[in-house]
Amino acid sequence: MIATFDEYKKEYQKSIENPEVFWDGVANEFSWKQKWTKTLEWNFEEPKVKWFIDGKFNITENAIDRHLPAKANKTAFIWEPNSVDAEHRIITYQNLYDEVCKLANTLKSLGIKKGDRVCIYMPMIPEAVFAMLACARIGAVHSVVFAGFSASALSGRIQDSDCKIVLTTDGAYRGVKDIPIKAVVDEALEVCLSVKNVLVYKHTNTPITLQDGRDLIWQDVVSKAANTCEPELMDSEDVLFILYTSGSTGKPKGVVHTCGGYMVYTCYTFQNVFQMDSGTEVERSRNLFWCTADVGWITGHSYIAYGPLLAGVSAVLFEGVPTFPDAGRFWKVIDKHKVTHFYTAPTAIRALEAAGLDFVKPYNLDSLKVLGSVGEPINEEAWHWYNKNIGKEKCPIVDTWWQTETGGILISSLAGVTPSKPSFATLPMPGIQPLLVDEKGNEILGNNVEGNLCIKFPWPSMIRTTYGDHDRCKKEYFSTYPGLYFTGDGCRRDENGFYRITGRVDDVMNISGHRIGTAEVESAINAHADVVESAVVGYPHDIKGQGIYAYVIVPSTTKDHETLKKEIIAEVNKIIGPIAKPDKIQIVSGLPKTRSGKIMRRILRKVAEGDVSNLGDTSTLLDPTVVDEIVKGKL
Ligand code: WTA
Repeated sequence: MIATFDEYKKEYQKSIENPEVFWDGVANEFSWKQKWTKTLEWNFEEPKVKWFIDGKFNITENAIDRHLPAKANKTAFIWEPNSVDAEHRIITYQNLYDEVCKLANTLKSLGIKKGDRVCIYMPMIPEAVFAMLACARIGAVHSVVFAGFSASALSGRIQDSDCKIVLTTDGAYRGVKDIPIKAVVDEALEVCLSVKNVLVYKHTNTPITLQDGRDLIWQDVVSKAANTCEPELMDSEDVLFILYTSGSTGKPKGVVHTCGGYMVYTCYTFQNVFQMDSGTEVERSRNLFWCTADVGWITGHSYIAYGPLLAGVSAVLFEGVPTFPDAGRFWKVIDKHKVTHFYTAPTAIRALEAAGLDFVKPYNLDSLKVLGSVGEPINEEAWHWYNKNIGKEKCPIVDTWWQTETGGILISSLAGVTPSKPSFATLPMPGIQPLLVDEKGNEILGNNVEGNLCIKFPWPSMIRTTYGDHDRCKKEYFSTYPGLYFTGDGCRRDENGFYRITGRVDDVMNISGHRIGTAEVESAINAHADVVESAVVGYPHDIKGQGIYAYVIVPSTTKDHETLKKEIIAEVNKIIGPIAKPDKIQIVSGLPKTRSGKIMRRILRKVAEGDVSNLGDTSTLLDPTVVDEIVKGKL
């Protein structure tokens, strides 16, 4: 583990001068059944990236079995339920082993084999993590779908990767809500022919209907399965999981991660960024990590499930929401379990800041040592509030920049080891070679500059392909600037070479830390029978970071715009889910289009931001009067 700033500089240098030797050293720390014969093969043209070639192992042996001799009774997870009155659960590494093996055997008995796709649509309960690891144990590919997505979004994802089975629950608690999850699965499966079984974990006891021959109750079958399961021997480049994420065009795409590189990189970044293994032995034994993300997102994959378990630490798994039963819930959980390392999103920080300090004051938060931020740019005000009121100015803040496609953290300070700076992710992790380019793809050298963020050299946990459509992977990430991986983010490099991510420069919005494509929301809005056309942009939102602003054209005969707006929101809820619902809808009679029919989003963004004083050149528009009408409508 890197322990000083000087060491970081040396490691970084080593990783750039000789990446293969560097990553060999890191990968040697894990348990392999067969060592790799070649460290790396790559080109960013096809693109093709392979790490630790011919290496054979199983990631669950490294995340579980490897720890058992010394840590069988160590807590892997403390599960904190949604309700403050419900009991928390402790899952030791031994419990984790037993549960994962039992579930893995169950999946096998249902005919699931290496390479088969398994959809996991579950709330934040330990069984969701067991499910991921059980798949990995037998070499099945998990595709976790965030349980807030609608039936239609779920079926799209199941169909895209031909999942054979869905693992789910009867219901899910989220704050005051009791959401009927199984009913959503039932609706989704009406159009999914590939699914042979549904395994339902009874969690809320919400009434459900079971389809004969298809649906099974988890508790009934898993309890009968054996609690040992030989791990499947996996190749480094075998697929570990698929995770769907939004892009700038079309439907969400399945980002594919493979076993070897993902294991090595998530563990390495977890250990170095959060520094949970620093301090005395007693201090280390008390360390408790808490990442508040959902397992439905990449942060939950890499820093709830895999990273912490590979590192053998203890972590909190939280079912609820930050504002239930009140805005003090996070702080209550921190005090209750003595959380030392806390990792959350700026949107949560801003919402809790807005709720006021009265919700923080009852808690002393003195167990905290390190704070983290992820998912979107953290504004300076939120950073300072977090630092002062939660970290009490004694906890380093790591602002971690990364993406579903990167698998792990690429730019971040290392807690207490390298300098941090409010709203800056700061410096690249060893092995990461970022660069800024201008619109034409020319590298922008020097400091105090701004451009589009690219990466010029592969790292172990990078995206391998987009499921079922390699060309899409090439177009989306490797074609804008040939020879480079393009992140889609804008970025500034300050006088010290520190990086500050400024936000997406493509048509992807970041709503409360969730990635949503404008095209996806438009297509959901357009599904409403009365909508002729729509254009969606993000706009600055105090809590969510960005809100969704929709411009919608409806026939002039449509009279009741208020009802229509409600119906549009319902349509988006139905097709994608509540996270994608527009915050503002403006009915317009036309959209600003160029003569070639392209919508000028730049203008729509400015109007949505309320900045109408300088809309720039509108002379290339087919009908410039449209802009006047839109501006008037907004005022
Ligand atoms: C944004 C989440 C600024 C960024 C891990 C990126 C950030 C997108 C940060 C990926 C950060 C993530 N500072 N922006 N620390 N972390 N982002 O795939 O725009 O859900 O491209 O992965 O979130 O979102 P994703």
